[in-house]
Amino acid sequence: MNTINIDVTGTGTDLAPAVADGLAALTTLKEGTGPGRAFLGWLDLPLTTAESEIKRIKEVAADLSQEAEVVVVIGIGGSYLGTKAVIEALSHSFDALLPRRTHPRVLFAGQNISEDYLSELLDVVQGRSCACIVVSKSGTTTEPALAFRIIKKHINGPIVAITDGLQGVLKSLADQEGYKTFVIPDNVGGRFSVLTPVGLLPMAVAGVDIERLLCGAREAMACCLAPAAENPALIYAAARNALYRQGKSVEILANFHPKLHYLTEWWKQLYGESEGKEGKGLFPAGVDFTTDLHSMGQYIQEGPRFLIETVLSVAEPERCLRIESDAGDLDGLNYLSGHRIDHCNKMAELGTRMAHIAGGVPNIRIEIPRLDAYHLGALLYFFEAACGISGYMLGVNPFDQPGVEAYKKNMFKLLGK
Ligand code: PA5
Repeated sequence: MNTINIDVTGTGTDLAPAVADGLAALTTLKEGTGPGRAFLGWLDLPLTTAESEIKRIKEVAADLSQEAEVVVVIGIGGSYLGTKAVIEALSHSFDALLPRRTHPRVLFAGQNISEDYLSELLDVVQGRSCACIVVSKSGTTTEPALAFRIIKKHINGPIVAITDGLQGVLKSLADQEGYKTFVIPDNVGGRFSVLTPVGLLPMAVAGVDIERLLCGAREAMACCLAPAAENPALIYAAARNALYRQGKSVEILANFHPKLHYLTEWWKQLYGESEGKEGKGLFPAGVDFTTDLHSMGQYIQEGPRFLIETVLSVAEPERCLRIESDAGDLDGLNYLSGHRIDHCNKMAELGTRMAHIAGGVPNIRIEIPRLDAYHLGALLYFFEAACGISGYMLGVNPFDQPGVEAYKKNMFKLLGK
């Protein structure tokens, strides 16, 4: 089985013209001749991340783990979502209630401005050994800066800053206070930074095997940058653009695995900020199935037909749980005896795809073999590569985010900055 399998038969569309456009976009991306070319550093990260950098990340992560029971990661957008996505995907669903822990608990702050959230975080931090990783590429983003100002007074362990190598308020603060620092490369934008120390350090703290993650990304890099019709990133970019050109305006990323909820949130930022500009772009939405089949299923099946659905599937669960036969069979489920729970999940997935396709929602299916560090690394790289190709197909600069400034200007004016 390949690392990333993609099935576009559910689009009901001849993708050949879009694939040809996608090949041209891939060339633009690889040759660095398109807009935003100064931010293509992420393309080579799986190959260029030095062993010395990984060693230092692991050493600092080990220090933090030794010193702290809780590590607060402060950041927003690309400085938080990839980390959260990977840690959630690879952690026990009930991690917080597990009696024995081998790694510190990673908590997040700076991703909102809620007074209650911050106050409640302080409740948890106080009386515990606590370290902090503060992440901001610009070093000037209000949400993490505010959270850091509040939280740093309660941190009794080490503080590590991940920011620009030369400038920004966070860089100056780190220099002045003597925090350990990691640099976010100039040529890697926030939402493409998950494979830099931004993601790797907090993931290592949480016990993620970051070398396997990079290894998976490396394998994906080989197939996602190949100028070949079977390149899965090219096929995904081509399919979503072909459907956009047919008038579809919303892409729903659907998972059948609750641990993928934040992967969807990361994907939403990646595609939303990269493509939603100049009046263009599919609106990226997300659903967690089968949970949301009981809330959003009706709309997807019978609402206005502007949707496409991309199903993210995991071939093999990490655990095995079979349905046992029951003598009374009062719940009428004996017909499933001997089957795994995942068999039901897979049939729900197939049944959902069939129903939605029949209801006029074109479908793309992306499958990874397992939900582990290696395949997650591959998936992250796949989505990034496809995003670069897709943005160039759409005719936008996928690597800027001018629209993010509008709310900030109003907020600063209202706050009297
Ligand atoms: O993709 C981006 O560049 C943004 O979403 C940023 O990640 C986000 O705004 C946080 O910025 P910073 O890391 O500069 O605090």
